Amino acid sequence: MLRNRRRETGPGRGVIPSPNIWHWPEVYEEENRAQDPRGVVYAALREVADWTGRDVVDVGCGTGFHLPMFAADARTVTGVEPHPPLVEAARSRVRDLPGVTVQRGAASELPLPDASVDLVHARTAYFFGPGCGPGILEAMRVLRPGGALAVIDLDATAHPYGRWMCADLPHYNPATVEAFFDAQGFDLRRVDTLWEFPDRGALERVLGIEFGPKVAARAIAETPGTTLTVRYRLHVRRRPSGLELA
Ligand SMILES: C[S@@+](CC[C@H](N)C(=O)[O-])C[C@H]1O[C@@H](n2cnc3c(N)ncnc32)[C@H](O)[C@@H]1O
Repeated sequence: MLRNRRRETGPGRGVIPSPNIWHWPEVYEEENRAQDPRGVVYAALREVADWTGRDVVDVGCGTGFHLPMFAADARTVTGVEPHPPLVEAARSRVRDLPGVTVQRGAASELPLPDASVDLVHARTAYFFGPGCGPGILEAMRVLRPGGALAVIDLDATAHPYGRWMCADLPHYNPATVEAFFDAQGFDLRRVDTLWEFPDRGALERVLGIEFGPKVAARAIAETPGTTLTVRYRLHVRRRPSGLELA
């Protein structure tokens, strides 16, 4: 998920290329289906920022996989995604869901008014550590006082997945990332999940889009069967509901 996190020089958007979902959206769909089928991450998120009857934004929504889940209980759901083919895919997914829209946009420039939402959710999208400050400020702008920015990403301190991530991304330092979110006033929860694939083919396809060829081959060789334990980080920062500086 983190490969090639080079910033593009787009029109000020800070779009981060996501080869996995950009190039292989069908395999990424298999990945989303395999990730956390028991809903442990959703449950942890709900404990810290329940969205029932609230207005939710999913930043970097990709093909909109998580939008229907939020839509089941939220008042409104807005998916925001910069990559046009994925905007179309997400729109098509939620076409029949009332109260759900998808906008083209980026985390640092959300197409939403000030103080208009209660939960800004981003899963393995844009908020990867140092450099995502513009997106944090933008989330604080669109959140109502007391609302929450919830950032969900893979926890590279948990193995074996973390070991593969660090081998694939030699410059990625999980301690630096966690220190960054801590310094920005986020709380941290770690959530253990089990990725469950229907068969070996699906598992191998997914590991094949998450890592370069060498690390993918190693990950496949080190994974017997069709399941994989993966830990997530859930970082939450609230927009203060009391006194704020201008
Ligand atoms: C790994 S995918 C995750 C997609 C989705 N959150 C999911 O869980 O299925 C990362 C997504 O972030 C998007 N993205 C990249 N740069 C972004 C930015 N600056 N603001 C918002 N989203 C961005 C990518 O286009 C991609 O759809």
